[in-house]
Amino acid sequence: MTDLAIAANGLRKSYGDKTVLDGVDLAVPEGTVFSLLGPNGAGKTTAVKILSTLISPDPAGGEIRVGGHDLAADPQAVRAAIGVTGQFSAVDGLITGEENMLLMADLHHLPRREGRRVAAELLERFDLTDAAQKPASTYSGGMKRRLDIAMTLVGDPRIIFLDEPTTGLDPRARHNMWQIIRQLVTGGVTVFLTTQYLEEADELADRIAVLHDGTIAAEGSADELKRLIPGGHVRLRFTDPAAYHNAAATLHDVTRHDETLALQLPSDGSQRQLRAILDRLDTAGIEADELTVHTPDLDDVFFALTGPADLPHQSKETAR
Ligand SMILES: Nc1ncnc2c1ncn2[C@@H]1O[C@H](COP(=O)(O)OP(=O)(O)OP(=O)(O)O)[C@@H](O)[C@H]1O
Ligand SMILES: [Mg+2]
Repeated sequence: MTDLAIAANGLRKSYGDKTVLDGVDLAVPEGTVFSLLGPNGAGKTTAVKILSTLISPDPAGGEIRVGGHDLAADPQAVRAAIGVTGQFSAVDGLITGEENMLLMADLHHLPRREGRRVAAELLERFDLTDAAQKPASTYSGGMKRRLDIAMTLVGDPRIIFLDEPTTGLDPRARHNMWQIIRQLVTGGVTVFLTTQYLEEADELADRIAVLHDGTIAAEGSADELKRLIPGGHVRLRFTDPAAYHNAAATLHDVTRHDETLALQLPSDGSQRQLRAILDRLDTAGIEADELTVHTPDLDDVFFALTGPADLPHQSKETAR
């Protein structure tokens, strides 16, 4: 069995009479990426802040261990094991990128020479060497985000918390960030990631948890979560109304979209099912103008689990 980098039982947090986290269990194995997803205000940042010792959980909750240390009993040991990149940048714009890095090195009590070496190395790794002597306020959003993460890595943490690390980055900068995160994990680092981008969780995370109404509505690998949700289908489009009506009469279990002359059939996207559909059309001498296969993605999962109750979606019980 692998050791857990993060383990929490019944994590709770309320502000006044507002319950934000209502008993959240987390188990993140060392050297893996765990992604916490949830709509705005779900409590992702609250969870990150509790696990990184920035705020206290409600006392009613169970034990929390981070990096093998009891968070309540030994917060100092937890702090020594982790790095945190917050949702909002910790970069000081008035000083240069290098000075920001050296400040972090001081905070970690690195000897001056060691601090300079680590700062230079990380600036190089994050492609910031050329900009190192410029005030951080002149950096682009993507550069600031890279500097933010570089600063998080100064203390060589074994566990890092990234709260929406790629929000506001362009696609190329986002892919670069994913590359950096993958490299960290290859080096054995555990990553606890919150994100609004389901594609990001799909790309990076070994396990994904969807936070909704204060609890984990579903948890699993991206594939496991996708399997919870119906919604895989084949879509056939026609330009000839006669062909459209023929196909609607020939195929079983179709949903009609008369205005667009499109038919939708539930499907798992397997070769066997597709062939069966095509065979039926061929036999009837019908040709569709377009055929598309839609497999459910994490967006479907996310909307199904966190959508308003009046929308048709699976209940939490059946989704688990
Ligand atoms: N210090 C505070 N006092 C009172 N309420 C708070 C406090 N901090 C957070 N909250 C509330 O807790 C809830 C969860 O906030 P949190 O920042 O954890 O959400 P989030 O999932 O990170 O959202 P986002 O996707 O917008 O970043 C929100 O309703 C927020 O208003
Ligand atoms: Mg947040």
